[in-house]
Amino acid sequence: MSIHASIRRRTAPDIRAMKGKAPIVSLTAYTAPLAAIVDRHCDFILVGDSLGMTIYGMASTVGVTMDMMIAHGRAVVSRSAAALVVVDMPFGSYEESPAQAFRNAARLMAETGCGAVKLEGGAHIAPTVAFLQARGVPVLAHIGVTPQAVNALGGYKVQGRGDDASRLMADAQALADAGAFGIVIEKTTEAAARAITAAVPAVTIGIGASPACDGQILVVDDILGMFPDFRPKFAKVYAELAASADAAVAAYADDVRSRAFPGPEHTFKDRP
Ligand code: KIV
Repeated sequence: MSIHASIRRRTAPDIRAMKGKAPIVSLTAYTAPLAAIVDRHCDFILVGDSLGMTIYGMASTVGVTMDMMIAHGRAVVSRSAAALVVVDMPFGSYEESPAQAFRNAARLMAETGCGAVKLEGGAHIAPTVAFLQARGVPVLAHIGVTPQAVNALGGYKVQGRGDDASRLMADAQALADAGAFGIVIEKTTEAAARAITAAVPAVTIGIGASPACDGQILVVDDILGMFPDFRPKFAKVYAELAASADAAVAAYADDVRSRAFPGPEHTFKDRP
């Protein structure tokens, strides 16, 4: 029996059942080695389309493809055992119709082994959420700043100020009524996030939306200090991996240039 078979992986209903009980811990992961670490500490892992920026160096998530999400989703599922894995539906894979969304969501689930998908949008996307949910696809919704709509939003500005709070509330209620088990709330005012969290039965997962949510998510690269030149204000940095990697590569280069490599403990044995 494999070690994986002895651990029961969390499901979307398990995450939904945490509402009002315990804060939900979540991070993104895109690769197998990091998935193994994140899996030990998080309730769910998001294979976010932020991988367009973190892995592929794109300027936004708009160019991310189904094939990218499938390759990274499969890697994350392969090295995680306990956390629910949620895979992002990329821009253009679900907006056209509920049928298009189901076709691509089914592909993501069948080809990665993930337990849920995430898609962006408010009340207008609720019929699609209901269509997926009714066909066995658990959905994590995403409102507030929705990065796939960056070209329409005109940037990543805080949402939910003034009258905008009632629009966000209506979006959240429509998505929860449609059966979303959770709603990511990105970069909104605390008041908007707090009101939505109190109003909907779905769990709310904040990112830059205050501790008032049922749980939190961050991009793993941000908390690990992978991008020293880009640090979202809402993401605490817990390690400086880019600086450590830079120092390690510099030390290696110094060793090679001073002919100190390989060191005595790494001396290659002469082949017989
Ligand atoms: O793509 C992503 O990583 C996300 C999170 C930031 C919520 O959507």
